[in-house]
Amino acid sequence: MTEFVKLIYGDRQYQLPVIEGTEGEKAIDISALRRQTGLITLDPGYANTGACSSDITFMDGEKGILRYRGIPVEQLAEYSTFIETSYLLINRRLPSPSELTRFSVLLNDNSLVHEDMRSFYENFPRSSHPMGILSAMVNALRSFYPEIQNLEEEINLTVTRLLSKIRTMAAMSYKISRGHKVVYPRPDLAYCDNFLNMMFDSPVKPYRIDRVVTTALNVFWILHADHEQNCSTTAVRVVGSARVNLYSAISAGIAALWGPLHGGANQAVIEMLSQIAENNNMAQVIERAKDKNDPFRLMGFGHRIYKTFDPRMKIMKKVCHRLLEKLKVSDPLLDVAQELEEIALRDDYFIEHHLYPNVDFYSGIVLRAIGIPTNMFTVMFAIGRLPGWIAQWKESIDDPNWKLCRPRQIYTGPQETAYVPIEQR
Ligand code: CMC
Repeated sequence: MTEFVKLIYGDRQYQLPVIEGTEGEKAIDISALRRQTGLITLDPGYANTGACSSDITFMDGEKGILRYRGIPVEQLAEYSTFIETSYLLINRRLPSPSELTRFSVLLNDNSLVHEDMRSFYENFPRSSHPMGILSAMVNALRSFYPEIQNLEEEINLTVTRLLSKIRTMAAMSYKISRGHKVVYPRPDLAYCDNFLNMMFDSPVKPYRIDRVVTTALNVFWILHADHEQNCSTTAVRVVGSARVNLYSAISAGIAALWGPLHGGANQAVIEMLSQIAENNNMAQVIERAKDKNDPFRLMGFGHRIYKTFDPRMKIMKKVCHRLLEKLKVSDPLLDVAQELEEIALRDDYFIEHHLYPNVDFYSGIVLRAIGIPTNMFTVMFAIGRLPGWIAQWKESIDDPNWKLCRPRQIYTGPQETAYVPIEQR
């Protein structure tokens, strides 16, 4: 039986239907609100707004739950690979062994990047941030692979191309930024190993595959693979709603992810931890984060949805310890991070504001141990988030209730004012 919410406005009463998701979350359906009442809703930052129905990812921020297509992220991190998880997100179910093989073969077949794109890389100033380059290059893919139509088969081809080429493009940008020879993908290597080989292989020092590193990277990417309607995913959906091609929608997502309040936090955390280690000023940093008059925030802490531990953070912290131990690496930033976490979790400000470490708090230490340079951290997040963006884009364009995303506003500017000719001003 449908539930309703009563809205009393002026001398009239309206009934707004309540809809319920499979995990019991409820929403007021306001799609007819303006037509019926003349009112719109106002929700800066969309903290109370459900922008779509989705069957991809479930999060419970109070309980610290994250599931992709119903499967707990903890199980995927333990047993799956990034490619299998990508298949799950995009195709709505886990692949059979033959489907997984076919998917891997397709990823391999599409892993090269058009040679002409190399000249773009070579012409970016050396100081360019890799996220700016990645966003531009993904958008540019449309010019090199323009045949996408809204046909299932071509969409699948574009999806595979993107998933495969993004890691080639990321590794290429790193090699070119260092003035080194580009390393091509190898058909005998799986997705993560191929990426690591393209990043770190060199004519004078061949890269040696290390299972420990491969596993850590798989888990890192699985943990980032989707996170329902976050800022960059919303950017992908909004831009995609104008029916642009997939490359442009993903390029918008990459641009949104770059921000330090979102994916850029992984770089910002390492910069903050390094400053603390260098200046020995942890107490001051915490005081700054609590100061209302200071815009500084403790990076890697807090989340719009999680009001308890971010489940991804718990796994990332374990991966971090395991990786450093197995590689016999001692990173002083891990000690700084652990001490900072302990102090913040005991501090009244962080307790009252429900601020816990998020996925980015330990992820940078994992990436450093793998050898990824700090300015590439958010690129690593972007590669991981790509299957989620694609799944969300596909879901939105397949939605029979699809609409162009076009919010309204409450105008607060001047009322009608006559134009004043320049000589009278
Ligand atoms: N340090 C200090 N105070 C904080 C922090 C923080 N990291 N995060 C939130 N607060 C305070 C904030 O000042 C506000 O205080 P008050 O109510 O007294 O004015 C209160 O907590 C609520 O903050 P908000 O900005 O309204 O909450 P939000 O849900 O919009 O913020 C957030 C979410 C992630 C933007 C924020 O927690 C933040 O800026 N964190 C640091 C950046 C970061 O780590 N981002 C990565 C997020 S996880 C990766 C991803 O999925 O993108």
